[in-house]
Amino acid sequence: MKSIVGIVGSARRLGNCEIFVKEVSRNINLPHELVLLRLSSFRLEPCRGCYVCLFAEERCPRKDDLYSVLEPIAQADAIIVAAPAYFLGASANLRRLTDRGLSFYAYIDKLWGKPAVAAAVAGIPGKEGATLLGVENFARMLLADLKVSRVVYGALPGEVFLDGKNRRVAAEMAAALFTPKRRAEPHRCPLCGGDTFRFLGGNRVRCMLCSNAGTVSMEEQGPHVHVEKGAHELFLSREEAEAHRQWLIGMKDRFIADKKKLKQISSDYRRDGRWVEPPADRGPEK
Ligand SMILES: Cc1cc2nc3c(=O)[nH]c(=O)nc-3n(C[C@H](O)[C@H](O)[C@H](O)COP(=O)(O)O)c2cc1C
Repeated sequence: MKSIVGIVGSARRLGNCEIFVKEVSRNINLPHELVLLRLSSFRLEPCRGCYVCLFAEERCPRKDDLYSVLEPIAQADAIIVAAPAYFLGASANLRRLTDRGLSFYAYIDKLWGKPAVAAAVAGIPGKEGATLLGVENFARMLLADLKVSRVVYGALPGEVFLDGKNRRVAAEMAAALFTPKRRAEPHRCPLCGGDTFRFLGGNRVRCMLCSNAGTVSMEEQGPHVHVEKGAHELFLSREEAEAHRQWLIGMKDRFIADKKKLKQISSDYRRDGRWVEPPADRGPEK
């Protein structure tokens, strides 16, 4: 039997994200167990940028719940993720895990190409801001094969299914999960499927999902995006993800080689400003 992990980016029990994930699961036409992760229930500390997880034991040294979250994702056959719009972006619960992404490379064999569908749940029609990009980014940084990503609206818990429209979206997502790659569409980045772009001047654009640049032209059928691969890719292919991992590992030697010069630059700033310290009685880090 397949195992499908449902990642819920909202703390609200039986809220729209949770029931949306469950509705997608209900529509999957294969026997499976739905394994649920409510990210807000786990202690996920900020990444310290120490890079230790890329070396030796390939494990993050922080003593928190990272691996309780990562293991079930790695073991799953597919991913359903839903996150709420919080202030025009995906709730930080997703980002807290994404920030620990250097630790994902130790799981590359298990994570690479895992089918995924992603939903951005917003309360106000049209006011999702960058939430969809946030859930897409989350899926891609998990090295997943994102089949479909959609925005659905619903504010009060349960409202997402007040009419039948979003149930159909959930059914569509379920149907897409175990199908081949999503087909190219002219208004999307031809490299990664993203549809959020930053204008760079003239007709130049940068895809905000894979961060590659190109051009957009207005054709009869609508906008047509052309994007070229950069010299340094993060997730477009397994080989490129692996090459990025090796590049990250190589940072250690680059740091050792330039340590003196780098230290000189940063230590010059040591005494600037006054730090506000956190309260001392917070207790030791667990
Ligand atoms: C702190 C907070 C910020 C929110 N910001 C937005 C927003 O910027 N845009 C929006 O459309 N909805 C916003 N919402 C509404 C939620 O996205 C919406 O209620 C959603 O259904 C919540 O999902 P849940 O039921 O799974 O918690 C916000 C809700 C909260 C609690």
